[in-house]
Amino acid sequence: MNCFRKVTDDLYWVGGNDRRLALFENIHPLYHGVSYNAYVLLDEKTVLFDTADWAVGRQFIENVTAALDGRPLDYIVVNHVEPDHAASLQEVLLRWPDAQMIMTPKAAAFLRNFGYQINAENIREVKDGDAASFGKHNVTFVTAAMVHWPEVMMTFDATNGVLFSADAFGSFRSLDGKLFADEFDFDREWIDDARRYYANIVGKYGPHVQAVLKKAAKLNIKYLCPLHGPVWRKDLGYIIDKHQHWSAYEPEEKGVMIVYASMYGNTENAAELLAAKLAEKGVTNTRLYDVSSTHVSYLISDVFKYSHLVLASVTYNLGVFPPMHNFLADMKALNVQNRACALIENGSWAIQSGKLMKEALAGMKKMTVLNDGASVTITSSVGEQGAADIDALADAIAADLSK
Ligand code: FEO
Repeated sequence: MNCFRKVTDDLYWVGGNDRRLALFENIHPLYHGVSYNAYVLLDEKTVLFDTADWAVGRQFIENVTAALDGRPLDYIVVNHVEPDHAASLQEVLLRWPDAQMIMTPKAAAFLRNFGYQINAENIREVKDGDAASFGKHNVTFVTAAMVHWPEVMMTFDATNGVLFSADAFGSFRSLDGKLFADEFDFDREWIDDARRYYANIVGKYGPHVQAVLKKAAKLNIKYLCPLHGPVWRKDLGYIIDKHQHWSAYEPEEKGVMIVYASMYGNTENAAELLAAKLAEKGVTNTRLYDVSSTHVSYLISDVFKYSHLVLASVTYNLGVFPPMHNFLADMKALNVQNRACALIENGSWAIQSGKLMKEALAGMKKMTVLNDGASVTITSSVGEQGAADIDALADAIAADLSK
């Protein structure tokens, strides 16, 4: 049975929810599913904005068919060709072969690379600022390269103020019958999924997101219609502000994320001790993570959230403990920058992890290491000197937080 929802008078959400996918992009764990959003506009012409992942293909086709209610499909606007959105395009073309597609030249090239059978005469290639009219709805195409792929564009409908924003302003998590962000307590239920989605999927491309936010600021946006997660029709400033912070690599909150890599519990003990000392000094906005048992996508998400980052790692094979090494590599890959950091190293002999973590942070932008760049050194277990050094580190972090 079809299951679609009205967005505005003549615009409908026709996507689907996927609660079976274990790993988004086969890498990021999903515990609450994900939605693939697509939209149908019923004007003098009918328009489909994007398609959906094949996992929800049957529901999506039923929804499009029902929304069209017997009318032909005149246009398909392809804002993004990544297969979680374009996988059902060929199926749509089998059913509505006369539909004209609108996309960037790169999108057309990418679709051909993916093996889509598309006729050049069915494609209108557009560039930034090009316009189209579907009747009373007049739209402008806004290129958004690298948000999240190079071919991406957004479509702004000036008639009703809808921005079809592709992956931008999206989120992990299935919609579960609701559609609008104001139908949830977004700040309580969704923000962590939204941040994890942004940081891991789009986080690397902050300057590109900033460029798009500048373009968007000139538009009179009343609805944000992303390709994942809820539609925004109220309090748009909330989610735009979050994206401003994330894309500028500015922390959302003053707080301390402590990530430890521990083999036998001694580095964990050092991290616990630091968190306790911080609490005693009034610093309670802290999070403590075992790097070995926390998926790196969650760590990346909180790096985007908090102002301060403490890395505590045992030395392993004369290197940084592999899961911590992986976390540092992911931070660099995702362009993480502009954080105050502190380091704790441990080892039983030839302690190297502090020096190596400092070198890894030096390879990122604007990462400062408190304590004059020195690591707190633990030799096998936290002794009296180690405890005193951790207390001093907590003082340095508390002082830096109060700036
Ligand atoms: Fe949701 Fe870049 O695709």
